[in-house]
Amino acid sequence: MLKLNRRVAALRPSATMAAEARATELKEAGADVISLAAGEPDFDTPERIKEAARRALAAGQTKYTAASGTTALKQAICYKLKRDNGLEYEAAEVMASAGGKQGAFNVIATLFDEGDEVIIPTPAWVSFAEMVRLSGAQPKLVRASQDHGFRLSAAQLRSAISARTRGIIINSPCNPTGAVYREEHLRELSRVLAESGIWVLCDDVYEHMTYGGSAPHLFRIEPRLRYHGIVLNSLSKTYAMTGWRVGIVAGPREVIQAVARLQGQNSGNPNSIAQAAAVEALKGPQDEVATMVAEFHKRRDYVVERVRALPGFSLPNLPEGAFYAFPEVSPLLSVKWKGAPIGDGDGLARILLDEAQVALVGGNDFGAPEHVRISYATSMANLQKAFDRIEGVARRILEG
Ligand SMILES: Cc1ncc(COP(=O)(O)O)c(C=O)c1O
Repeated sequence: MLKLNRRVAALRPSATMAAEARATELKEAGADVISLAAGEPDFDTPERIKEAARRALAAGQTKYTAASGTTALKQAICYKLKRDNGLEYEAAEVMASAGGKQGAFNVIATLFDEGDEVIIPTPAWVSFAEMVRLSGAQPKLVRASQDHGFRLSAAQLRSAISARTRGIIINSPCNPTGAVYREEHLRELSRVLAESGIWVLCDDVYEHMTYGGSAPHLFRIEPRLRYHGIVLNSLSKTYAMTGWRVGIVAGPREVIQAVARLQGQNSGNPNSIAQAAAVEALKGPQDEVATMVAEFHKRRDYVVERVRALPGFSLPNLPEGAFYAFPEVSPLLSVKWKGAPIGDGDGLARILLDEAQVALVGGNDFGAPEHVRISYATSMANLQKAFDRIEGVARRILEG
């Protein structure tokens, strides 16, 4: 048998990427599949950003840059952190990565080690736990209850912290639940976090996608956390730039230096043309962001209405951010389909793909197998068609 590195051998494939890949495969084979699986905006990257990339190409900006990014991009990141989050960082306290995913991984690999525990409130993005395992540390999954709006409570946090706890990853707005931590929730958590001194990683990639009230930044609410806090962000979702691969990391200078050292050895700089485009994205006019968010808001309202009307689905909380709904589907899971119980969200997702040609992601890898994740980063016409089909299949399942 092929002998692989122990941690890589244990690595699970990304459930979201697998679902999207399966949908693409079926589409390429001619099936009329609608994908509600993708975690990426369906909008095109705004023209002014593409134009900046063309200018960079024409100017021959095709060489290596510093592994941590160009000075122009670091300055643009500082500008963004002040404008959007009210956080003051210097250029030496920030860096660019090849996407939010690489930034998150490099930070996790830099800060955590064997024997450490990292708290991950679940349901959570599928990659966090795998990244923590790859670092040698253990993820400590703490289930945030639906009754508490899928937000971790201060009491849960307090009891999850042990002598081995070295960090926590907070993602607001949250993928997959759409939960947003408001000021009062963050204030409660911040007391416990400030006392604990553990590393606090804030994943802000969906920060602009909120529908009714913004997502305040934890480090603005409790500035002491900055000393043991890391900002993780990305241009992927905000500027519809998933393919460009530009992420943001900000934190204490020594940590950034160490993360940059790691990045310098494992990948080097993020793409130089994408970096030039990112400067324009961050510093130029921000109207396209508002236009995209307004469209997501309309879709969120539509999706909530349709999901709540689906037999066997329940969605008690309004998803307040990101572009996902995460309904519970328990009544469907004990039902037998073709002789065997459906079992879990992944099982239901498989049936919906086969029977309705709609791709969504089961909740298993998000830490909530009785749920499915529905992405509304697709057109209203697609959503309408997809929900009509899901409704038909859900009815058939329940009618036996
Ligand atoms: C919560 C969360 N963090 C980070 C990322 C990383 O995005 P990217 O690597 O495209 O910047 C994603 C992407 O789906 C995400 O959902």
